This record gives sequence, structure tokens and C-alpha cells, in this order.
Amino acid sequence: MRNSSFLFTALITLMSISTAISSQSPLQNFLTCFSHNSHASKVIYTPNNSSFSTILNKKMYNKKFQSPTTPKPLAIIAAKDASHVQATVICAKSNNIQIRIRSGGHDYEGYSYVSDVPFVVIDMFNINSVDINLKEETAWVGSGATVGKINYNIAKKDNNLAFPSGICFSLGSGGHYSGGGYGNLMRKYGLSVDNIIDAKIVDANGNILDRKSMGEDLFWAIRGGGGASFGVILSWKLKLVQVPSQLTVFDVKRNVDEEGAIDVVYKWQLVAPKLHKDLFITLKTNVVQIGNGSKNAIQISFIGQFLGTTEKLLPLISESFPELNLKKSDCFSMPWINTTLFWYGKPFGSPLEELLVDGPPSIYFKSKSDYVKKPIPKVAIKSLWKKLIQGKTMYMDWNPYGGRMEEILPSQTPFPHRAGNLFKIQYFNNWIDGSPKSIEQHVNFSRSIYKFMTPYVSNSPREAFLNYRDADIGANHPSNITKFDIAKTYGRKFFKGNFERLVSVKTKVDPKNFFRYEQSIPTLTH
Ligand SMILES: Cc1cc2nc3c(=O)[nH]c(=O)nc-3n(C[C@H](O)[C@H](O)[C@H](O)COP(=O)(O)OP(=O)(O)OC[C@H]3O[C@@H](n4cnc5c(N)ncnc54)[C@H](O)[C@@H]3O)c2cc1C
Ligand SMILES: *[C@@H]1O[C@H](CO)[C@@H](O)[C@H](O)[C@H]1NC(C)=O
Ligand SMILES: *[C@@H]1O[C@H](CO)[C@@H](O)[C@H](O)[C@H]1NC(C)=O
Ligand SMILES: *[C@@H]1O[C@H](CO)[C@@H](O)[C@H](O)[C@H]1NC(C)=O
Ligand SMILES: *[C@@H]1O[C@H](CO)[C@@H](O)[C@H](O)[C@H]1NC(C)=O
Ligand SMILES: *[C@@H]1O[C@H](CO)[C@@H](O)[C@H](O)[C@H]1NC(C)=O
Ligand SMILES: *[C@@H]1O[C@H](CO)[C@@H](O)[C@H](O)[C@H]1NC(C)=O
Repeated sequence: MRNSSFLFTALITLMSISTAISSQSPLQNFLTCFSHNSHASKVIYTPNNSSFSTILNKKMYNKKFQSPTTPKPLAIIAAKDASHVQATVICAKSNNIQIRIRSGGHDYEGYSYVSDVPFVVIDMFNINSVDINLKEETAWVGSGATVGKINYNIAKKDNNLAFPSGICFSLGSGGHYSGGGYGNLMRKYGLSVDNIIDAKIVDANGNILDRKSMGEDLFWAIRGGGGASFGVILSWKLKLVQVPSQLTVFDVKRNVDEEGAIDVVYKWQLVAPKLHKDLFITLKTNVVQIGNGSKNAIQISFIGQFLGTTEKLLPLISESFPELNLKKSDCFSMPWINTTLFWYGKPFGSPLEELLVDGPPSIYFKSKSDYVKKPIPKVAIKSLWKKLIQGKTMYMDWNPYGGRMEEILPSQTPFPHRAGNLFKIQYFNNWIDGSPKSIEQHVNFSRSIYKFMTPYVSNSPREAFLNYRDADIGANHPSNITKFDIAKTYGRKFFKGNFERLVSVKTKVDPKNFFRYEQSIPTLTH
């Protein structure tokens, strides 16, 4: 009797345990699976952990997504090594939970940490080693290593080596490189992806692959096709590039009220993409307050970098771009690493350790991009300036192409915007008031500028830069088209003729479409 009662109790207990298991939430199942597959408890944050929001908000450059109404991940896995990434992939997949992958958190649309479906975030910031091989002039860098940390470590070893990438120190190499990665060495050496020679990635089966084992198709796809459609990038191998011991930089400003400013800007369109490869002159348009602050006006900055001395630069400019009226006193010579501080806007003499500091504070912003293939007429530029003055909060970057950018075939990497482009425009609108109405107003303004620019920029497709993610791209589609056709709409703008090859690689390496986000590469059937 006692025995049967014991058995009965045991049976009930067992039954309730198994009911509990089957009724456990996907997150609990994920956590159980993770603990079986990996040895670490201190890498998972759920909303129960007091530091959950701190970790979530730590790398979140667009402040819009810090709002309480933004959907939050079920958990954040702050991976410390590859095994944590593998366990996350395996356990998320078996529990039908999507993942989002974050390195530097600079995604303009928050695609690395926001989604409408249940998801966990793999956060790569701890995987950030930088190992430089001076003899080979190469480096292996973790995908969580920031551009600032990578640059700092290169410069500590050798002042004549560099790596082409973006300006902001806190960009993560995981997202920044896999989306292309451009910066002021672009006309000489191309994009970051043009100088990447190997990578390690965790695929949809949780395997770790390198260039050899992943094959050339997948290695092609992750260099500009966006990593998050294909796997989790663990690390990259970089081929470092040569720079002279002294570079020259300048920042020449023109107030648009000045006589002739429109002529210099117009001329810039003709010459900047054709200048000597060693010379990169970007054009920035800001709305500034003038007089006693009662009036807004346009200010143009010509910010330049030359891979050589001032003595060599001045004759080059007076020959090809005399309208700039560059003077010796405008020019500053310094090692490459100092130029990275200059481009970021740090005062001269700032310690190099500034490169390692966490990024700028989050801001509210909306950005869009365009490619320009023929010079924009003066009247259109003047109308654009008028609109910018009215809107007050938008600035523009015009980044010249040409040089190395036009020597590389559009099919060499997924990034297709090569020969035939004079420059790329970024329209960057940023503001202080985070109320829903203010956000809507500013986004509306960005859209109106984008609409105004239609006749002057690329069309069929209207090309866009993947790293400047914009949820509007491909969003205006007829309601009766398929999901694949929607993807084709944004895919053609980001990748042009490379879209089909990306789809075919995707279909081969991730046929169930495990790795996805709101603008990812689809498979042929998903
Ligand atoms: C202030 C600022 C300045 C910028 N300047 C430049 C510039 O000069 N040049 C330029 O090219 N771009 C620039 N950008 C854009 C930037 O390159 C993109 O936002 C880029 O995607 C950021 O990468 P991340 O790792 O920091 O961001 P994240 O938000 O972490 O990731 C961005 C995307 O990449 C995916 N991803 C991240 N890590 C991995 C990984 N390990 N494996 C697979 N997928 C991954 C994410 O899922 C997401 O889709 C700038 C952005 C900001 C905010
Ligand atoms: C989060 O909380 C759980 C449960 O208390 C704990 O096991 C885990 O270690 C915590 N995670 C971190 C990163 O501290
Ligand atoms: C979080 O805490 C609640 C209350 O203690 C508990 O019921 C729940 O299981 C916990 N969730 C996780 C994922 O640990
Ligand atoms: C600013 O200057 C303008 C004219 O230049 C003048 O009309 C205005 O009163 C001034 N405003 C203030 C606050 O001084
Ligand atoms: C470069 O930066 C370092 C560190 O701040 C500084 O000591 C050095 O003077 C700088 N060199 C030039 C030429 O600006
Ligand atoms: C933004 O534009 C939409 C569509 O044109 C319009 O309906 C809405 O009122 C605008 N919002 C604001 C705040 O201006
Ligand atoms: C979608 O609708 C439009 C107009 O209603 C029609 O012309 C088009 O053929 C339809 N496309 C598909 C794929 O059904």
C-alpha cells in the first residue's frame, strides 16, 4: 500500500514535470538547451537580470529604439567565444526563435537589436581581439572589435600601415565591413571589403567555417551582402595597406552667402571624382546660424586628405581645383592615425586613447542615400539649399568616387556602386525632440528631400547604400506582390545585378532562411 502510494505520487510528480517541460516557454527551452550545449551562465541576460536594459542600450546608436514601446529581445547572449555563438544558433533554431546579430550597434534602423517577432540578440562586443602580423601585413580582428580599436592597434605597431574603413570609432567590424565599409582611403584602396582576405563564420548548422571551408561564393556574399543574411561573422582577416609617414588634411569652409560658392560646389562635382587617387575631398553641407543667431544659412565644408606632404598637395590643387583657393595655412601634416582623430572632429593633440572610447551618445536620426551619375544643375542645388535651411536639422555628405572605386568590377563584391558614379549623397537628419510627432515630422522632411532629388540621382533602380539602412527602401510596393518581389525591390537598389547571386548563395547555405532580418536576402522559396 505504502509502495503503491509512493509510486502513484512519483508518477504524478513525473507527469507534472513532463507537463512543465512541454509547457515551458520557448525562452526557457532555449536556456535549457544553451546550458547543455555550452559552459557559461554569465553570458546570458534575460529581462530578469538587473543589467538587461543597460546591456541592451549599451550599443544602440539610434535613440528612437530606446523607447519602452520598442519590442525587446527575449534574451541577450553576450558571447565570449565561438562556442556561445554556436550554442545560440543551435538552440534558437531548435526552438523556432529568431536571432538578431549585433557588433557595434550602429544600424540606422536597429535591425541588429529590434524585431516584431520573438528573438534573441547575439551580442559580439566581447569578441574583439586584434592580432596583427607585421611580417604578412595582415590582421585578424574579432567582429566586435571597433574601427577605433583596430586603427589604434595597427598604428601602435607601424605608422605606415592602415586599413580602409569608416570615420566613426565605435563602428563594429561585424556590421560595418559586411555592409561594405567606406572611408577616406576609398579612392586609393577601395572599401573595407576590397581588402578582406579571410573570415570565420558560424553557419546555420552551428559549424565554424573559414574561407576555405565556406567556399568562394559565401566568402563573396559576406563581403558587402550584409553578414546577417548568411551567418554570424566571428572574425575577419584584413590585408593592411601602405600609407606614408605624413599625410595632409584640411577643412576649408565656405559660407553660401559668399560670392561664387555655388560655382565651387558645382566644380567640385566635376573634379572630385577625377582627382589624383591619393587625394580625397569630401563635401559637407550644414545649416548654421549666422549673425546674432537669428538667421540660418548654408555652410559648405571641403574636407580633404592627401597621402603625401603639403608641398606636393598645393600644386595638385592649384592645377585641378584652383577654385578651392587652398592655402598652405589651411593644411596640416600628421601621421595617418592622427588624421583619424581629425576626421572625427577631435582637437589636435587629442590622445590616441580617444580611439578606444565608447561611441558618441545616441541621437534621434533618419538617414537616406543616393548615387549621383551626372552633375546636379546649379538651380537644383540652390533649391535644395533653400529647403535645407527651412528644415534646419539635416546635413549632407557628398563622398566622391572614382580612383580605385572605378577599377573594381561591380560583380567583384556584392557592393555594386563602382564606375559611373560621381559621388554618393548621405542625407542625415538629426534632432533633439523624441516625441512621436517630432519623429514623424522629421522623417517626413527626409522623405520630401528624397522626393525632390529624384530627377538628379540614379534611377532604375534608384541605388542605395546597404550600410545606410533605410526602412523606406522597398516599402512602397503594391500590396499584391510576393515577399520575394518585395525583397527584390530593396535588393536591386542595394546590390543591382548581384542580387540574384546573393539569393543563390543564400538558398544554398541557409535554405530554411534561419538568418534573416527585415531587409535580408531571401531564399528562392522563402
Ligand atoms: C555615427 C555613424 C557613422 C558612420 N560612418 C560610416 C562610414 O564612415 N562608412 C560606412 O561605410 N558606414 C558608416 N556608417 C554606417 C555603418 O557602417 C553601418 O551602420 C554598419 O552596419 C554598422 O555596423 P555595426 O556592427 O556597428 O552595427 P550593428 O547594428 O551591430 O550591425 C549592423 C548590421 O550588421 C549585422 N551584423 C552585425 N554584426 C554581425 C556579425 N558579427 N555577423 C553577421 N552580421 C552582423 C547586424 O545584424 C545588422 O544587420 C556609420 C554609422 C553611424 C551610426
Ligand atoms: C542572469 O540571471 C540568472 C538567474 O539569476 C543568472 O544565472 C545569470 O548568471 C545572470 N546573467 C548574468 C550575465 O549575470
Ligand atoms: C524570471 O523571473 C520570474 C519570477 O521570478 C520567473 O517566473 C521566470 O521564470 C524568470 N524567467 C527566467 C527566464 O529566468
Ligand atoms: C539680430 O540681428 C537682426 C538683424 O541683423 C536684428 O533685426 C535683430 O533684432 C537681432 N536680434 C537680436 C536678438 O539681437
Ligand atoms: C599625433 O597624436 C599624438 C597623440 O596625441 C601626438 O602626441 C602627436 O603630437 C600628434 N602628431 C601630430 C603631428 O599632430
Ligand atoms: C507626415 O506625412 C504624412 C503623409 O504625407 C501625413 O499624413 C502626416 O500628417 C505628416 N505628419 C506630420 C507630423 O507632419
Ligand atoms: C497587382 O495589381 C496590379 C493593379 O491592381 C496589377 O496590374 C498587377 O498585375 C498585379 N500583380 C500581381 C503580381 O498580381
